[in-house]
Amino acid sequence: MSETGETKNIGLRGVKVADTRISDVDGEKGNLIYRGLNICDLVVHSTFEEVSFLLLHDHLPKAEELKRFQSELISEREVPETIYGFMRMMPKSAHPMDVLEAAVPILAAYDPQLHDESRNANFKKATRLIAKLPSIVAAWDRIRKGSEPVRPSPELTHAGNFLYMLSGSLPDRATARDFDICLILHAEHSFNASTFAGREVASTHAHLYASIVAAIGALSGEIHGGANSEVMKMLLEIGEVNRAKSWVSEKLQKGGKVMGMGHAVYHTEDPRASILRGICSRLADHTGDRKWFELTKAIEASTREEFRKLKGKEIYPNVDFYSASVYHMMGIPTDLFTPVFAISRISGWAAHIIEEKFAEAQPKPELYRPDADYVGTYCGPEACPYIPIEERSK
Ligand SMILES: CC(C)(COP(=O)(O)OP(=O)(O)OC[C@H]1O[C@@H](n2cnc3c(N)ncnc32)[C@H](O)[C@@H]1OP(=O)(O)O)[C@@H](O)C(=O)NCCC(=O)NCCS
Repeated sequence: MSETGETKNIGLRGVKVADTRISDVDGEKGNLIYRGLNICDLVVHSTFEEVSFLLLHDHLPKAEELKRFQSELISEREVPETIYGFMRMMPKSAHPMDVLEAAVPILAAYDPQLHDESRNANFKKATRLIAKLPSIVAAWDRIRKGSEPVRPSPELTHAGNFLYMLSGSLPDRATARDFDICLILHAEHSFNASTFAGREVASTHAHLYASIVAAIGALSGEIHGGANSEVMKMLLEIGEVNRAKSWVSEKLQKGGKVMGMGHAVYHTEDPRASILRGICSRLADHTGDRKWFELTKAIEASTREEFRKLKGKEIYPNVDFYSASVYHMMGIPTDLFTPVFAISRISGWAAHIIEEKFAEAQPKPELYRPDADYVGTYCGPEACPYIPIEERSK
């Protein structure tokens, strides 16, 4: 609290900035609902395509609606040749999140409805982005490795097609479904940093693509979406189950963070982490290599134990903790983990940006404009005298 009694420097924790109809995170009970439905039911009964429709349209699709939406997504998977040209000119070392962020305005330039701000045009733009982002992420991975991009297959599901475009070979059905579940779990999480960034840009009446660029930038940070790659780096660094305890203990005692642990909202187990732990175990059996699952579990146990000792409280894994070893076992390169988060979260971002634009949960759209207390140089209400450059001593 500042001297004036206002809350500051708390990362807006607990400050309600809007109403939303899209999702609810119950941090005490560890529940996450999308448009009224529990994610635990969605991962059993739905696909990412169906969940994307739900997030955008506020209801589960009827069979005919889902069929139409799936066909639209399939027909929008191709990206303009300019995208490939731009990628071929990029340094191979460019981070996939930066490439994704840079590719989105190119998509904007090719969108025939870019400046059509009707609700229906925004749904179409959202559908195009959901369809095309996976093609961009997969294409960059191949181009930077000196291979040709694999063109999307209309025969495959959204999840299966991404794995296919990445590796060039057809994924087995179980892995494609596991990846589909990962996409469902990452699709939406209320007013997290990247969604808020997207909504904030949308509140200026910027178009959907500009808002999505902001969201991608926010997601890239290591304490937000970047955490999943950091978890994998940690797993690779620790390497063996028997090193987990000492590594974690040293890290925490030095005041460092164990990536993938802790959450700003959940004070109990993140329900997504519980589901991902199960997928991780299943994949370990499927690949015949339990190392990554066992190592992740050992780090979780050591972190919880050490945290209790050091801080006298509990800490739990978040969505990024088990997704790292899951993606690794699926053959996804570590620096693609955060772009993979983006190809899922695009559905939630788009739903939020549309909600923001059309004030679907508010009486009217409003430009975000928070305030700050000025604590810099102050010479009085008339401001400081301006010193010409030749008279400045330092
Ligand atoms: C997500 C995160 C930013 C939430 O942090 P937060 O809301 O600020 O959490 P809190 O402030 O309640 O943390 C309480 C304490 O636990 C510590 N803590 C939180 N997460 C920690 C972690 N992963 N490793 C070690 N210590 C952690 C904080 O440093 C703080 O310590 P202090 O009280 O001595 O200052 C934080 O948990 C974190 O950085 N996690 C690692 C990054 C990550 O996985 N991000 C993905 C989030 S989905």
